[in-house]
Amino acid sequence: MAGTFTVQQNLELLGRYRYTEIQLMELMGSWACTMIDPEIKIGFGRNMFQDSVHADLLGKRIPELKGRSQHFHSIPPSDGYVRLLEKIWNTSDELLRLVALYQVVKPELVTVYRRHLERMELPADEPTGNIIRLIADEEQDHVEWGRKMIDRILGSSNRLEEARTWKESLLKELNDAGGVWGDGRQPGTYSFKKTHPYSKLPVRDSRWNVMQHPEEFKEKDWSFDTTEGKLHLLHDLLNSEFITVERMGLILSDFPEIPWQMKMDMARQAWDEARHAEIVQRRLEELGGHVGMFPTSCFGWEQDVNRPDPLERLALSNMTFESESCKHLRDWIAKAKKTGDTRSLQLVEFLLADEVNHVLYGVHWIDELTKEDPERRKRVLAYPDKVLADQHPVGVYFKETKNA
Ligand SMILES: [Fe+2]
Ligand SMILES: [Fe+2]
Repeated sequence: MAGTFTVQQNLELLGRYRYTEIQLMELMGSWACTMIDPEIKIGFGRNMFQDSVHADLLGKRIPELKGRSQHFHSIPPSDGYVRLLEKIWNTSDELLRLVALYQVVKPELVTVYRRHLERMELPADEPTGNIIRLIADEEQDHVEWGRKMIDRILGSSNRLEEARTWKESLLKELNDAGGVWGDGRQPGTYSFKKTHPYSKLPVRDSRWNVMQHPEEFKEKDWSFDTTEGKLHLLHDLLNSEFITVERMGLILSDFPEIPWQMKMDMARQAWDEARHAEIVQRRLEELGGHVGMFPTSCFGWEQDVNRPDPLERLALSNMTFESESCKHLRDWIAKAKKTGDTRSLQLVEFLLADEVNHVLYGVHWIDELTKEDPERRKRVLAYPDKVLADQHPVGVYFKETKNA
């Protein structure tokens, strides 16, 4: 392709960018619960959301250019490109995943966005230009962040050569597949599903001591009016924040067919929870605590992320656990006020503002997607009780607070 882009050429490329942004969001979503490094989980929560915004911006520009056909909203650049993404998705090693994402695919995105900007008909296509410039800058930030994470892993291991060889082989495959533009290739018809195997627990680094028996779970009995109580409650909440980044990521990767706005909400929640993890850990440490100081609970995880209906997951976690969490946060706010802990008060008020939205995501999407399907609605809404009836102490905790 030479000269400036026509409307038609533009559309063909925007569809390829959007396809890639969505694929990367799903890759991070499916990986988050198996990445050991908490800083990487947090970064994935943030990048997942930003990639969903990139896809959303592109998706708004496409119909403006009269790309009314669904075809333009997602164009796999070539079969070779899709198979390369599948190969990357199948990689289980943390370092090799990061190299693939942040040293191969995302830099390629930045390159094609910048090339696109140079070939733009201006000012005719200024609206696309503004979007692409913004996306390219954010993708460049992702690449920078990824480089730091990769350097850190390489700094404590002897894997530089392995990482380099892997990167070179992927770059060659990417080039052979025609890159994000799919140069000279037909759009791909191949697709793959990012299903995850049955999951007992999300992975945690060695500092965490995950409880094995539900009856050990007593953290919710603590009160936010003493430092010791705050340490227990914040420590427990920190793990819950990580869990929610991970479970939102799995909804995005397990269910590519859900409505786009629902994906945007799930990606937004992943980012909120990633920020919460940062906030909560900071407050925990300010109060003299640290990660791993108490045993922690992942009860509810197995019953959530293995459900084949995303709405059952939302009924259990968003409408039940997060709704309970809102009540707890209100109690913490009252106690922080009473005891003059203005720092905790300010942070927890921000947490609560987000959590209320998370409950609403659950309520809204269950209502919206079961309007025409009373059977599904009944099954979805009954799911939390079904789980909690024989789950202790989550069930006990749920019933106590429900009756309170
Ligand atoms: Fe949260
Ligand atoms: Fe939440």
